[in-house]
Amino acid sequence: MAEKDLKKLIEKALDMRNSSYAPYSHYKVGAALEASDGQIFSGCNIENSSYGAANCAERTAFFKAVSEGVHDFKRIVITGGPDDGELQYATPCGICRQVMREFCDPESFEIILAKSTGDYKIFTLAQLLPESFGPENLL
Ligand code: THU
Repeated sequence: MAEKDLKKLIEKALDMRNSSYAPYSHYKVGAALEASDGQIFSGCNIENSSYGAANCAERTAFFKAVSEGVHDFKRIVITGGPDDGELQYATPCGICRQVMREFCDPESFEIILAKSTGDYKIFTLAQLLPESFGPENLL
């Protein structure tokens, strides 16, 4: 069951990669974010002719979810690679890791880097963002 659900989440991320707008880097990323209540929010990277205005796939997914009032998350699948090449284990950038840190428990939130439904690596947020700064630091 869990395996089947993960396969579906990976398929969603792969599908979302088709919506990627990456005319400058030609590096396409798709993400599928699963909320604790089971809802799925997908996202792609969206580039801009003013390069700094680009948004990563992961943040697109998070911002879609948070803007819909969802703040609790279980895991995210990321699929990325050059548009004319093979998929890579595309790790989230530093800014995206920090955005995840705002809403997710570092020890339990899973970041799944997938090349296909049968080829993926799973990390916790704590593994990818150790000794992190988060909301509780400001309480
Ligand atoms: N990108 C993502 O969407 N997620 C990441 O975590 C890494 C980078 C995008 C941003 C840009 O559109 C392209 O990949 C190349 O950096």
